[in-house]
Amino acid sequence: MNELDALVESARAGFAQAATPADLENAKAVYLGKSGRITELMKGMGSLSVDEKKTRGAAINQAKQAIEGALHARRQALADAELEAQLKAEALDVSLPGRQRGQGGLHPVSLTLERIESIFGSMGFDVAEGPEIESDWFNFTALNTPADHPARSMHDTFYVEGGSADAPNLLRTHTSPVQVRHALQHVEQHRALSDTGQAMPEIRVIAPGRTYRVDSDATHSPMFHQCEGLWIGENVSFKDLKFVFTNFCRAFFERDDLVLRFRPSFFPFTEPSAEIDIQFQSGSLAGRWLEVAGSGQVHPNVVRNMGLDPERYIGFAFGMGLDRFTMLRYGVNDLRLFFDGDIRFLTQFR
Ligand code: DAH
Repeated sequence: MNELDALVESARAGFAQAATPADLENAKAVYLGKSGRITELMKGMGSLSVDEKKTRGAAINQAKQAIEGALHARRQALADAELEAQLKAEALDVSLPGRQRGQGGLHPVSLTLERIESIFGSMGFDVAEGPEIESDWFNFTALNTPADHPARSMHDTFYVEGGSADAPNLLRTHTSPVQVRHALQHVEQHRALSDTGQAMPEIRVIAPGRTYRVDSDATHSPMFHQCEGLWIGENVSFKDLKFVFTNFCRAFFERDDLVLRFRPSFFPFTEPSAEIDIQFQSGSLAGRWLEVAGSGQVHPNVVRNMGLDPERYIGFAFGMGLDRFTMLRYGVNDLRLFFDGDIRFLTQFR
């Protein structure tokens, strides 16, 4: 074997020994670097004749190309090995169950709210909203419940900053204040009409939302949901209340044979007042009277606080518990389940 072939062989062996790309670059420097073996051989040609230079140069070039070829082959082999190792380390276990994208759904109380809005919507009711932090005036006084009224004691709530010392602002204890708020807006909107003595368009509205009281057990929560209803016009009577609420309950529970009972009761803001009970004719709750709402003909003092003449305008109001309606519809017996956020409970309503 001549000297050049031996050089190529030793380069091959050197490259083969390099275990990493860095080792390989060091091995390369020995042969192809600035003061590497090939460069040295080139330098050594200075003393040769022109003919000798030709043959010697060609031979050295051939050796150089062979070494470069070996270098590239080894580089490729090392890169392949590295990729192979990486693929092995990051191998996918295709037998693992895939990650699923959970499908969300509405909360059962929201489903009830949607149902209520669509049923009352079909009977021409708008939807209004009011603030959860309410003034003493709208929550009580405007609803014919002055400061010393005993009915206030049933509405113990959370007081917040604002208002006056003897009448601080509070978290509303019911959605009834929205009756007055909405009516005042409605009256303002149609002031031009009433100034000419013409009749104002009827107020027909529901007002759902969060309400608060200091109460906590299986059927009471400090935060709960109510939905208010109000229908005021020149000729709206208790008969209309019975018709509207009966149709609503039958549509909501999808039971045509559902029976309603209007039981005399007391609320400061209605006169006469009634508690509304319902009775299913079949199923696990059949035969029991279940209280679902308070209602009544809006008290003249409240009509006046709405900016309307109680001699001309009359109507009814009702207030129901959204959580209670949800419990009855789905057969849930503990209100607290609605507020625990337990996904196993909530996904059942999807
Ligand atoms: N606001 C009453 C409550 O929370 C419920 C109620 C009763 C609302 C009679 C009404 C009504 O609109 O007419 O206990």
